[in-house]
Amino acid sequence: MKLIDGKNISEKVLKEIKLSVDDRLKCNLKVPHLAAILVGDDGASKTYVDSKIKACKRVGFKSSLFKLDDSITEIELISQIQNINDNDDIDGFIVQLPLPRHIDQEKILNKVSPDKDVDGFHPNNYGKMTLGIDTFLPATPAGIIELIERSEIQTEGKKCLVIGRSQIVGRPISILLSQNKSFGNSTVTVAHSRSKDLEKLCLESDIIISAIGIPEFIKGDMIKKGSSIIDVGITRVKDPLSPKGYRITGDVDFKSVSSKVGYITPVPGGVGPMTISMLLKNTLKACEISD
Ligand code: GUN
Repeated sequence: MKLIDGKNISEKVLKEIKLSVDDRLKCNLKVPHLAAILVGDDGASKTYVDSKIKACKRVGFKSSLFKLDDSITEIELISQIQNINDNDDIDGFIVQLPLPRHIDQEKILNKVSPDKDVDGFHPNNYGKMTLGIDTFLPATPAGIIELIERSEIQTEGKKCLVIGRSQIVGRPISILLSQNKSFGNSTVTVAHSRSKDLEKLCLESDIIISAIGIPEFIKGDMIKKGSSIIDVGITRVKDPLSPKGYRITGDVDFKSVSSKVGYITPVPGGVGPMTISMLLKNTLKACEISD
């Protein structure tokens, strides 16, 4: 079993980004600037956004955080987005999801300038990704591709099962892995809540990407020997033995699965850290395009 150390790979990506920032400074070019809009006070979203801002500092990026009350109207939020779209100093920005229920997420994501859409969620960028045209790839799938490439996991001709069809992870990673690219050429199956015989699908797969958010759902007897498992799940489960009273766990029952697999990502320390480094990579790209 080979453990895919996402923390270590993410550190390498951050170092590469920092070197690019240093080079830009030497050439008197502007430092990349990432902004984040955070609506409301959801604890998990706050933590994610704080980590993104912290990572900006580490690589020498400028960052701005726009904290908005969850009573904000759609019109006010759109006006804030327009201001950031028009601010030449900001290279890229994200609207942290989920948004409060009274706000139409699709409408909001449509207002982000595609040139600054470092999340890759605007339909223009999503469409480009689908067509295989160079663009900002959503950070989590981009991070998974980076882990696969840097671990030299072969994808060509392999049976790949993606569990989950979300717009942020399942759908885009299924598209990317089937494309005719060095990291693609897989035969991809997308499983979801209506799929039948999931165990059979898992057993037949060379690569499983799981993004369903059901803790420890995938057990050792569900997987093929030597397969590669990428666990995107991050769920808090109660654990009286932990000082915090909970622990973070993935979709995969690591104990029973790890002895059978070829490659596996741990949770935490697998896909999670990659998401932030890929967001910063997109921001650097946005900055370079606007030079
Ligand atoms: N919420 C969960 N994942 C993400 C992400 O990748 N981007 C944004 N903007 N919000 C999220």
